[in-house]
Amino acid sequence: MNLKETIKKDKKCVVLTGSGVSAESGIPTFRGEKGLWKEYRPEELATPQAFTRNPPLVWKWYNWRRGIIGKAEPNPAHYVISDMENFFTDFILITQNIDGLHRKAGNKKILELHGNIWENKCFNCEKKFGEIDSLEPQKCECGGYIRPNVVWFGESLDREVLETAFLKSKEAEICFVLGTSGLVQPAASLPYVAKENGAYIIEINLERTPISSIVDEFIPGKAGKVMEGMKKLFV
Ligand code: APR
Repeated sequence: MNLKETIKKDKKCVVLTGSGVSAESGIPTFRGEKGLWKEYRPEELATPQAFTRNPPLVWKWYNWRRGIIGKAEPNPAHYVISDMENFFTDFILITQNIDGLHRKAGNKKILELHGNIWENKCFNCEKKFGEIDSLEPQKCECGGYIRPNVVWFGESLDREVLETAFLKSKEAEICFVLGTSGLVQPAASLPYVAKENGAYIIEINLERTPISSIVDEFIPGKAGKVMEGMKKLFV
């Protein structure tokens, strides 16, 4: 079955993205040769223990990342995924990315599995805060430090977000998997859930991943370029 026949607006569509979708916007991925983690060990920075040990260090690292991300603009992959939300009557975007570029490109039906770097919350009472423009970490009125509202290693994902992600993947009839290494759970399980329930899986990546073994179509290439070429399918 070819893509043109498969892409029908009444199909329930799920899109799963990883950092590869933002690579062409200039945001480093996590595990590539210039990956973010290459310079830092995740244990040093993106864990509750690291923040407890040294709030200013972790806060400064996130400010550095916000600096990079703040300069980034959505690329064609983000914009076409936004078109997809308007094309399919039943659509959900499930992203592992915390950069907010999908929102910036116009998507509204989004599950941000790993949170959003532009949001903050109290480390102690979990009170939510918006953007905080400060070089040093601030404190909540409860006395706790305010931290980025992102999921750190060793932390669990928001239960409701995760339940919805699995439910939507189970119901999916077509599932796009873009720019993820498929190595980090529970996000990496979602395409398998979709497959088990009969969805047609399309993966777009520079290279094959563990997920590639179950997909119906693997399209090698840069997400921005490939999605630009598919734009006319979603009008
Ligand atoms: N187009 C398509 N795919 C790309 C591109 C691109 N321009 N550039 C890189 N890729 C692919 C890489 O081949 C790789 O498979 O994107 C994937 C990026 O993988 P990772 O760096 O592992 O990022 P991701 O899968 O999003 O990581 C998942 O791990 O560290 C945690 O919380 C972090 O959300 C992140 C999670």
